[in-house]
Amino acid sequence: MLRTLEAERARGRELFASAGSLEELEAANIAVLGRKSPLGEVQRALGALEEGQRRELGRAVNEARTELADAFEARRDALSVDVESALLAADAVDMTLPGRRRPDGSLHPLTVVEDEIVGLFLRLGYRVAEGPEIEDDWHNFQALNIPEDHPARTMKDSLYVSIPGHPELLLRTETSAVQIRTMLSQPPPVYIVAPGRVYRRETPDPTHLAVFHQVEALVVDEGITFADLKGTLEAMAKGLFGEDRRIRFTPSYFPFVEPGAQIGVTCFRCGGVGCPTCRSGWIELLGAGMVHPKVLENCGYDSERYTGFAFGLGIERVAILKYEIPDIRLLIEGDVRFLERFRAA
Ligand code: PHE
Repeated sequence: MLRTLEAERARGRELFASAGSLEELEAANIAVLGRKSPLGEVQRALGALEEGQRRELGRAVNEARTELADAFEARRDALSVDVESALLAADAVDMTLPGRRRPDGSLHPLTVVEDEIVGLFLRLGYRVAEGPEIEDDWHNFQALNIPEDHPARTMKDSLYVSIPGHPELLLRTETSAVQIRTMLSQPPPVYIVAPGRVYRRETPDPTHLAVFHQVEALVVDEGITFADLKGTLEAMAKGLFGEDRRIRFTPSYFPFVEPGAQIGVTCFRCGGVGCPTCRSGWIELLGAGMVHPKVLENCGYDSERYTGFAFGLGIERVAILKYEIPDIRLLIEGDVRFLERFRAA
C-alpha cells in the first residue's frame, strides 16, 4: 500500500501540473483526491489494519493528501490568473483606434456677436449686469423719464403680461431698464454692459423682430463728458467692424438722455461713399446720450456731482450688418443650412 501511495503522489503531482484548464484540473482533483480514487481506497482500507500499521500508513496518507491538495491549489491559482488575463485581454480597449467623430456644433451668430461686444467692454474694465425680462412700469418707463403719455408705453409698442393683480407688468421693451436696476443696487461709479432679450409689439419682417437682443452700456462717474461717449463708441465701432471705421452723431431723442444721439458708422461695404446697402455711406447703429439728470435722481444719485452716458444697440442689427445677412428673421429660424455658415473653421 505504501507503494500505491508513492505512485499516487507522483501521478497526482503530474496530473495537476499538466492540467491545462480549470475544468481539467477539477477532473484531475476527483481522480486523485476523490472518494473513488486509489488514495481514497487506501484510506478506506486503513480500518482493516492493525493499530501500529494503521497509524503509520494513516500519517503517510495524510501527508500525501496535504501535499497533493497544496499542488492542486497552486495550480488552480495559476490557472485563475490566466483566465483573468484572458478576460482582460478580450476586454481591452485599443487606444490607437480613431475615435468616433461627431459633427462639430457652432455658436449661434447672435452669441458670437454678443460675446464680441461684451468682450470688448470687459477689456475696458466694465462689468456685466443683468435684469429681469418681465419688468414693471416703474423700471421700464417711469424711472427712465418716460412720461405717462409717451407713445412708447402704449399697448401698441409694449407687450403686457396678464397676471391678475399686477397690471403694471410687461415684457421689457429695452435693456435700459437695467440702468435703473444697476444704479439702485450700487453707488457710483458705474461701468456696466447689460446684454439681454427685449420684446416689442411688432410683426416680424426682414428688418424687425418682436423679440430681439440688445446690449446696454451705462457709465456714471465724476467728470464724464460727451467726449468720453464719443471715444468709447469709436473704440467699439472699430473693434466690431474694423480699424478704418468712422462714426457720426445725429441729434435724436430718448427721454432718458440729454442730449441724445443716433450713431451711424461708415458702411463696411463701400467705406462711406454710398452703395446699395447703405445708400448714404452711413449705417445707423445705435442710440446713445448723456444720462438725464432726472434719471440719476430717480435712482438716488447726486446729479450735481455725477454725470454719465448710456447707449443701447441691437445685437441682431450688428449681426446682419457684420455678416451681410439679407433677412433678420434668418437669425431665429434655426435653419441649419444658414447656421452652418458660422461654424468656426
Ligand atoms: N433704449 C434705446 C432703444 O432701445 C437705446 C438707447 C439706450 C438710447 C441708451 C440712449 C441711451 O432704442
